[in-house]
Amino acid sequence: MGKFLPDNVVTNDDLAKLMDTSDAWIQERTGIKERRHIVKGSEDTPATMGYKAGMQAIERAGLTPADIDLILFATLSPDYYFPGSGVLVQKMMGIPACPAMDIRMQCSGFVYAISTADQFIKTGMYKNVLVIGSENHSGGLDFTTRGRGVSVIFGDGAGAAVLTREEDTSRGIMSTHLYSEGAHAEELSLIGPSTLRWVPEIMEANDPEDISYYPYMNGQTVFKHAVVRFSEVINEGLEKNNWTPKDIDMLVPHQANLRISQFIQKKFQLADDQVYNNIMRYGNTTAASIPIALTEAWEEGKINPGDKVVLAAFGSGFTWGSAMMVW
Ligand SMILES: CC(C)(COP(=O)(O)OP(=O)(O)OC[C@H]1O[C@@H](n2cnc3c(N)ncnc32)[C@H](O)[C@@H]1OP(=O)(O)O)[C@@H](O)C(=O)NCCC(=O)NCCS
Repeated sequence: MGKFLPDNVVTNDDLAKLMDTSDAWIQERTGIKERRHIVKGSEDTPATMGYKAGMQAIERAGLTPADIDLILFATLSPDYYFPGSGVLVQKMMGIPACPAMDIRMQCSGFVYAISTADQFIKTGMYKNVLVIGSENHSGGLDFTTRGRGVSVIFGDGAGAAVLTREEDTSRGIMSTHLYSEGAHAEELSLIGPSTLRWVPEIMEANDPEDISYYPYMNGQTVFKHAVVRFSEVINEGLEKNNWTPKDIDMLVPHQANLRISQFIQKKFQLADDQVYNNIMRYGNTTAASIPIALTEAWEEGKINPGDKVVLAAFGSGFTWGSAMMVW
């Protein structure tokens, strides 16, 4: 496991200087106290942050970049429209030729990515897969009162994991469960610039009311669907493995909103030491949130060999998923 967070800490009070919001409002609704933002003009991008997190994971796995057979890069904020950020990481790592694939599943991106890695490993096609989740949100958010419903929530950062073939089938990834429901595609989205809203068209229209280049979120709809889907997909994973909530040593939910995590904790009657949350310090870092939280939980000695670890995510698409692991 590895992680990288930009040094620049942005508190709720810092945001209150830019827009009509308050530390109390943000903490009460989301649990967030501060987040990290890339400083404009710094070298940090989703690819460079993913590279740093990825190198840490590779070194801790006792490997070198030459050992990596496949790179999976989960992000909603790639460096370029194309090519994907995965090939940029490959270039930085000096890997001459291996597949490098971007996964565009937003907040569920890391769960989708490790499920993909798991399939390639179990079929025997690849041995070592580097999975990265990395995001630069701060560069594209509306830090005025108009954008406060979205911009206070999201933060920047990267997390990574190396998945390796293991002959002992009593440990590793036991099962993954993935879903999407495109009926809600626009409820949490960034529509333009895109092939529907080309940049030249937006510039030509020069319409000050057109803010389609900022993310849109129907917060209450997202919240309602999230609590249902999180519960369903965790239950499905527990049933598949004949586990009960009591068996869970650590649940690492996507850090969408502390209130959602608390709802899930209560629903499954989990003790505080069965759930890991760090949204207070980093905000919602989308595809990076689970690998950052998983890395921290492991670094803090809260995840140990033999532990039953559950990952669960929900986000734009809508997409959701879970992964059941024995560490
Ligand atoms: C975003 C969220 C915190 C908003 O909380 P909410 O209780 O739904 O708030 P609403 O959107 O109904 O807004 C209530 C009021 O607060 C205001 N408001 C919104 N953002 C604010 C902010 N940052 N500071 C102060 N006031 C704010 C709204 O303008 C609105 O004011 P009005 O009543 O005068 O119109 C909440 O909907 C949520 O957590 N949704 C899930 C989001 C999520 O998890 N996203 C990630 C998915 S992966």
